[in-house]
Amino acid sequence: MKRIALITGITGQDGAYLSELLLSKGYEVHGIVRRSSTDSFERIAHLREKLRLHQADLHDQLSLVNIIRDVAPREVYNLAAQSFVPTSWGQPLLTGDVTALGVTRVLEAIRFVDPTIRFYQASSSEMFGKVVESPQRESTPFWPRSPYGVSKVYGHWITVNYRESYGMFACSGILFNHESPLRGKEFVTRKVTDAVARIKLGVQEKLKLGNLDARRDWGFAGDYVRAMWLMLQQPEPDDYVVAMGEMHSVRDLVETAFGHVGLDYTKHVETDPTLLRPAEVNELCGDATKARAKLGWQPEVRFPQLVAMMVDADVERVRREIEFQKL
Ligand code: NAP
Ligand code: GDD
Repeated sequence: MKRIALITGITGQDGAYLSELLLSKGYEVHGIVRRSSTDSFERIAHLREKLRLHQADLHDQLSLVNIIRDVAPREVYNLAAQSFVPTSWGQPLLTGDVTALGVTRVLEAIRFVDPTIRFYQASSSEMFGKVVESPQRESTPFWPRSPYGVSKVYGHWITVNYRESYGMFACSGILFNHESPLRGKEFVTRKVTDAVARIKLGVQEKLKLGNLDARRDWGFAGDYVRAMWLMLQQPEPDDYVVAMGEMHSVRDLVETAFGHVGLDYTKHVETDPTLLRPAEVNELCGDATKARAKLGWQPEVRFPQLVAMMVDADVERVRREIEFQKL
C-alpha cells in the first residue's frame, strides 16, 4: 500500500527536513501551505517537483477537513505554528489560535474524516519553561513562560486527550531546540551564524544580542525529524522527549561560531536590553532516554559540528550574494 503523509508547516525548517526524509523512504508527501502575497517555498524549492502542496490554514477548520479527505493520508505531522517566542507576547491571541487551537482543528479533521490516521504533534521543551527538575523528561511538570509555551502545553494535552478519549494514534514529540542552515534568521543560532558570515566577509561590523547567559540543549534538525517519523511507526502511540542531553550558553554559541572563522567575538558582540524577554527560560536540558531505548533514536550531529555546519553554509551564501551584487 502506498505510504501517504501530510505535513502542516511544510515550508518551515522541520517541514523541509521531514519532507526529504519521507521522500527518501518512498512516501507520497503532501503539504499544507497558507496563501500569502509572496511565496515562502525557499526551503523546499529543491523538492517542489516531488511534493504535492495544498492551500489551507490552521485557522480554517473546513480547509483542513477537505484536504485530509482528498489526500487520505496514513500519517499527519502537525508542524505548523507561530513558533517564534518573542512574537508570542506581541501576538498572544494569534499564537493561541494557531499554536494551541490549531492542533484541535487538525485532530478534529482527522477524527471526522478517518480516526485511524496516525498523528504527530510538534510539542516543545518551552513547555518546561522555569524548569522544576533537570534534566527534563516526559514526566517533568510543565511551567511555560511565554504565550507560545502556554499554547504548546495546550497542544500537548489535547493530543494526549484525543488519544485517551477516542483511542486515536496521537503522539506528542517534546523536542528541544534543533537548528540547521535552514533555521529562520530570527532564532539565536542562525542570527549568530549569519552575522559571523557577514562580519567575516566585511559587510557587517556588530551583532546585537539579548541574554548571553541563557542555556539551551541544541541539536540538529535533520536528526530530530527522524524521531518524529519513528514515533508514528511504533505499535502504540506515546509521548517522547527528544534532546541531546547537553547544555551550552548563548555565549558558548557565539564564541564557537566566531572562533570557527578565526574571529574574537568580544570585538563584535554587543548586548541590547530591548532583546531581553519579559519572562526568560534560563536553561533547558533534556533526557532522551526513552526515545533512545524505545525508538532506537540516535543523533549524529553534536554542537560543535552543528555550529560549524551553519557558519560554513552562511559564509558560502553571503559570499554568493556579494558576488551576485558585483555583477
Ligand atoms: P518554522 O520554521 O517557524 O515553521 C513554521 C511553519 O508553520 C511554517 O511552514 C509556517 O508557514 C507554518 N504556519 C504558521 N502559521 C500557519 C497557519 N496559520 N496555517 C498553516 N501553516 C502555518 O518552525 P520549525 O522550526 O520548523 O518548527 C516546526 C514545529 O516544531 C513548530 O510547531 C515549532 O513550534 C515546533 N518546535 C520547534 C522546535 C525547534 O527548535 N525548531 C523545537 C520544538 C518544537 P509559512 O512558511 O507560511 O510561515
Ligand atoms: N532569538 C534570539 N535573539 N534569542 C536570543 C537573542 C537574540 O538576539 N539573544 C539571546 N537570546 C536567547 C533567548 O533569550 C533564549 O533564551 C535563547 O537565546 C534561545 O532563543 P531562540 O533561538 O529564539 O529559541 P527559543 O529557545 O526561544 O525557542 C526555540 O526553541 C523552542 C524549543 O525549546 C523555538 O524554535 C521554539 O519554536 C521551540 O519550541
